[in-house]
Amino acid sequence: MSLNNPPGPTPSGPGPGPRDPDPKDPVPRNTGLAPSGPAIGSHRLQNPFILAPMAGLTNFSFRRLCLEYGAAMAVSEMASAVSLAHRGRSTLKLLTTDPSVEKPFCVQLFGKDPETLARATQVVVNEAGADIVDLNLACPARKVLSSGHGGALLKNPDLALRLVEAMAKATEAPVTVKLRPGFAKEDGPMVLKLGPRLVSAGAAALTLHGRYVSERFGGQADWSLVSELARSVPVPVIGSGDINDAPTALAHLAHSGAQAVMIGRAARGRPYIFRQCLDLLGRPPGSRSPGEAPGLWTPSLPERLELAIRHAKYLELEVGPKACFRLRSILMWYTKELPGAAALRAAICREESVDRQLELLTQAVAQAIQENRLPCGT
Ligand SMILES: Cc1cc2nc3c(=O)[nH]c(=O)nc-3n(C[C@H](O)[C@H](O)[C@H](O)COP(=O)(O)O)c2cc1C
Repeated sequence: MSLNNPPGPTPSGPGPGPRDPDPKDPVPRNTGLAPSGPAIGSHRLQNPFILAPMAGLTNFSFRRLCLEYGAAMAVSEMASAVSLAHRGRSTLKLLTTDPSVEKPFCVQLFGKDPETLARATQVVVNEAGADIVDLNLACPARKVLSSGHGGALLKNPDLALRLVEAMAKATEAPVTVKLRPGFAKEDGPMVLKLGPRLVSAGAAALTLHGRYVSERFGGQADWSLVSELARSVPVPVIGSGDINDAPTALAHLAHSGAQAVMIGRAARGRPYIFRQCLDLLGRPPGSRSPGEAPGLWTPSLPERLELAIRHAKYLELEVGPKACFRLRSILMWYTKELPGAAALRAAICREESVDRQLELLTQAVAQAIQENRLPCGT
């Protein structure tokens, strides 16, 4: 495998994504679950598995990898409506995509002023090529909350409704909302009242991450609220939270009433989790629990190395030489189980060239193979 051979614009990388003609490819049938995903406006998703938006992570390179492995859609990093309304170049750059790879393209915005969000919606649809525009009413980051954005808007439902209304009026494209059950658990799940009102304001789908904003990422996502929301609105509900593997994704899909599920943290370094979900979706319902789902395709160590290299090359194509700084953490996603991972991480962090970082990674993998010190499951 050549480190100097960046993948072309239409990837045909080594990871056998579900679009490859591979006999192991999942052909969902006899499942009891709908093999196709929900329709969001006029966009029918090919399956019910979506990459969750993650600030700083779900740039085009990572989205592309997940799409190659079968994700039906991959939501962009959240982008500032203020900056987009003024056509801020660095924010527009966040919205890099390629329609031959990514369709539909879903862009998430954060903002708190109806007019600004309306303008930003038009910019992302008309200039960045977004097919779906999502509004963030969920982010619990201190900086976001203190400026009245993201999850803070759940304290001001009337404003949240006006934002959705303004966005929906500004475009023909479907507008969706990602939110949490409420701001604080003590206040109860206000999403159950707000959800139907968001739909009346123009939301074409709702995504619920079942943790309150004040819980941030603590505790566990409450999927019973996803079920309740799904029963109370006439549009698709997408569930998010704590899906760590394919059997969990399928279980939530089967039991929550959500029409699709989002996978976030578990896709870091494991974009092939989408392929595993599709594989499992193709099996009969009785054989999907964790103990009964052997043989889900998992890449070997050399295949994981190829995957890491592919990710690095995509990122280099997207952001240029400064990819090496972001790769310091990204490459660790793929190497956690390698013997000597800590020393490898330190060495990779000292490098300021992508090629050098990949050489170090390749050497470490070659050495582990030679010494037969392979992590489990390879
Ligand atoms: C690093 C990170 C960044 C995130 N950024 C966003 C974001 O920009 N917008 C958003 O709606 N959710 C964001 N989330 C929340 C995820 O989309 C998802 O709802 C949450 O992580 C729960 O799903 P998971 O357990 O599958 O990760 C972020 C989560 C993480 C871990």
